[in-house]
Amino acid sequence: MTLSVTDRIESQPNQSCDVELAKGPWEFDLMPGYGPGASEEDTIPDPIVRPGQLPVVYQQMGEEELHERIRRAKDALGDRLVILGHFYQRDEVVQYADFVGDSFQLANAALTRPEAEAIVFCGVHFMAETADILAREGQSVILPNLAAGCSMADMADEDSVEEAWEQLTELYGTEPDADGRLPVIPVTYMNSSAALKAFCGRHGGIVCTSSNAETVLEWAFARGQRVLFFPDQHLGRNTAKAMGIPLEQMPMWNPRKELGGNTVEQLQDAQVLLWHGFCSVHKRFTAAQIEQARADHPGCKVIVHPECPMPVVDAADAAGSTDAIRKFVAASDPGDTIAIGTEINLVNRLAAEYPDRTIFCLDPVVCPCSTMYRIHPGYLAWVLDGLVEGEVRNRIVVSDEVAADAKIALERMLAAKPR
Ligand code: 13P
Ligand code: SF4
Repeated sequence: MTLSVTDRIESQPNQSCDVELAKGPWEFDLMPGYGPGASEEDTIPDPIVRPGQLPVVYQQMGEEELHERIRRAKDALGDRLVILGHFYQRDEVVQYADFVGDSFQLANAALTRPEAEAIVFCGVHFMAETADILAREGQSVILPNLAAGCSMADMADEDSVEEAWEQLTELYGTEPDADGRLPVIPVTYMNSSAALKAFCGRHGGIVCTSSNAETVLEWAFARGQRVLFFPDQHLGRNTAKAMGIPLEQMPMWNPRKELGGNTVEQLQDAQVLLWHGFCSVHKRFTAAQIEQARADHPGCKVIVHPECPMPVVDAADAAGSTDAIRKFVAASDPGDTIAIGTEINLVNRLAAEYPDRTIFCLDPVVCPCSTMYRIHPGYLAWVLDGLVEGEVRNRIVVSDEVAADAKIALERMLAAKPR
């Protein structure tokens, strides 16, 4: 029997990034910062929005009852409801999703059920915002726990990006070159606020996900001389490097420093400016772990998510989005051994789905994405019960003004299909 992530944290506390994660998320929703499992280097948004706790009655409900409530509400709501689940969600929640996918697939899935009155997004805040922007008028998008944010998304805020843009515009000007290419095109990773997607829409830019980042960068280079890529430095670097862009032409932009900490010459020569952001889950993976996996399992295959640092992606056999990882495993043969560098819930699910292969996480420490993990069945039951009673709880609403600009950048992204 495969143990759930919570069971593993409880039973092997010395192999977990933080034993507190085994608690109900309502217990750490009120703690400072992102709570257990988060990197100490994560930037915490200021002021921190502390959503209300889950009603005590739901905190105290037994698992049986929670699951019974979810099933009953789903049956009662029928086609009026669609539940979307990201691959990183816990199995206890994913089992109820009508669509399970990576962030590109889930953005598309949000468009496929216009008849549903409510989209319950079991993912994180930026995904629910995207669904709200793409949803039809009148559809409500619900994030079961409002504390399910993304520490990486918070590493680029609107003010810092505007400030960077001002400095870059002063340096590069605004005139296109002889080929009609603008001085710089902003590209935001899907893991960013709606405000930053709107920024890209306003400035001739685009959104990318980890599955279509290369297609998106090609789109951007057809229209611009260089790219400002935020917030994930690793996805930007790994993708641009695979396209043949030299590392010297990818300076880092540190928003706390003048000119991002670069000289004018460096910026003149730059092709991709990489924002100083990262994912605290993926930065735990190392090339040494890959070496160890290969020593312990000669002949094993290694696949990692492109949010991992460059030496990890370089050392792996393959890198790709969460769906690309799923497909890599599906295409493997019985008896194969596959080491994966991504979030533990997806790795465990793949291991359970393919018991005739040896599938394990490169990081021996159990460390789920602590914000995704906040979508507990208790929150799902509470929002679904609300819908049955005619009350929309935890609705995510992007203002019309922001949504209009963000939609431009998102529609460009949806047209840039993953390879
Ligand atoms: P995917 O787009 O691969 O689903 O990744 C989303 C994410 O947040 C990974 O950390
Ligand atoms: Fe954000 Fe990393 Fe969690 Fe993905 S895994 S949602 S990038 S913190």
